[in-house]
Amino acid sequence: MGANAIPPPGTRRPVSGLRRALIAGTLGVLGTITALTLPAPSDAAASTLGAAAAQSGRYFGTAINAGKLNDSAYTTIANREFNMVTAENEMKIDATEPNRGQFNFTNGDRVHNWAVQNGKQVRGHTLAWHSQQPGWMQSLSGSALRQAMIDHINGVMAHYKGKIYAWDVVNEAFDDGSGGRRDSNLQRTGNDWIEVAFRTARAADPAAELCYNDYNIDNWTWAKTQGVYNMVRDFKSRGVPIDCVGLQAHFNGGSPYPSNFRTTLQNFAALGVDVAITELDIQGASATTYANVTNDCLAVPRCVGITTWGVRDSDSWRSGDTPLLFDGNGNKKAAYTSVLNALNAADPNPTPTPTPTVTPTPTPTPEPGACSATITTVNSWQGGFQSTVTVRAGTSPVNGWTVRWTWPGGQAISSLWNGTHTVSGSTVTVRNAPYNGSIAANGSATFGFTANGAATTPTATCASP
Ligand code: G3I
Repeated sequence: MGANAIPPPGTRRPVSGLRRALIAGTLGVLGTITALTLPAPSDAAASTLGAAAAQSGRYFGTAINAGKLNDSAYTTIANREFNMVTAENEMKIDATEPNRGQFNFTNGDRVHNWAVQNGKQVRGHTLAWHSQQPGWMQSLSGSALRQAMIDHINGVMAHYKGKIYAWDVVNEAFDDGSGGRRDSNLQRTGNDWIEVAFRTARAADPAAELCYNDYNIDNWTWAKTQGVYNMVRDFKSRGVPIDCVGLQAHFNGGSPYPSNFRTTLQNFAALGVDVAITELDIQGASATTYANVTNDCLAVPRCVGITTWGVRDSDSWRSGDTPLLFDGNGNKKAAYTSVLNALNAADPNPTPTPTPTVTPTPTPTPEPGACSATITTVNSWQGGFQSTVTVRAGTSPVNGWTVRWTWPGGQAISSLWNGTHTVSGSTVTVRNAPYNGSIAANGSATFGFTANGAATTPTATCASP
């Protein structure tokens, strides 16, 4: 098997470190061969993105468009620089099942074959999505659509069984503003459509990593990020098969690179999933921002790789933003150099982030009409920690809530979401956000925070006016 060949079926590992060790081991073999013919300093920098990423067991990928595979300038760069491939459009629903029950893998296979013949792995994109549905699927609803989704997942995954490193099983299912689900024909089949898609996918190809993929989930404080985080946490707690979260990372003026991006990656990873940057492009391609994104991934052991959404600026879906690492003539941009340097500077043996500390406090039984609050510390690190707080209604609905606790030893909130907080001495008071004050009888709402100081899980009180 070649250096970057597709692993055989059954090699999916939910813990990324093993895979990264294998990739790094493969690179080590290559390094040995190189050393036999060309003595080189042991710390010689890699000269391509894929090789540089492989030094820390990660990949560096790109979206490939089948229509450009006869453009030798395009394929020369793509082949040289990247070791992971995503089909930009060719494995989507409209491309692979243009008529119900009639699958067409012509262009998907062109991309897949090109990748495999050039020793690259493939991310599959995407199986269940509200967009790029063929007309026949757009016109379905209810149980007929649900069955069509299941049949589609089975049909496509059977064709590529054992040949896809990771599938974006569900794409872009959350609403941009509210943090809830996006309305779509799939969502209207019932809220469980996402978990049905993941369970179907696991059965169809147990060797593939199964990812949820979305945009605008990069900023930890955004409601959409919290919505996806809560879904993944729920899936992990209930055993719904999910292995990874893909953060598309399309950064521009409306959705800028957030300084808390690393926190977001860490927090998703702490749920027990791999994270990947799956469609990276940055309006204007700031070299600094590209380096920041790369360093954020490198700082998170379960960040398995980065994919840019296209090769040259002229290949981008947003070509006017010149958002990629190569200009229209195929020249390396300053951002390319900053990414390569960051990858080459990566510590091949990063210190693992601390194991998440999950310390639930006992759940008080709420009085009828009142509320209760339970703090859970979900992650901690040197000098800080992250908690979620579940606010539960009793046997009557709650309209507005106030949660209060006292820090034992100098802790301080650094960021709080899904609520508004005030501080008086060591006492923190959190009131509901405008959108989550009403809780149905026996229902719950959540908010979360990160704090500075030693991790602690104080007992909280809850009051409802
Ligand atoms: O191929 C036809 C061409 O024959 C026709 O003349 C032309 C007329 O509009 O359309 C061409 O198809 C276009 C296709 O890209 C191929 O270039 C579609 O119209 C166009 O809608 C499609 O856009 C793609 C878009 O997804 C669709 O939603 C982009 O290439 C693709 O980069 C983009 O990728 C998405 C990810 O899948 C999910 N995340 C966001 C990302 C960017 O939008």
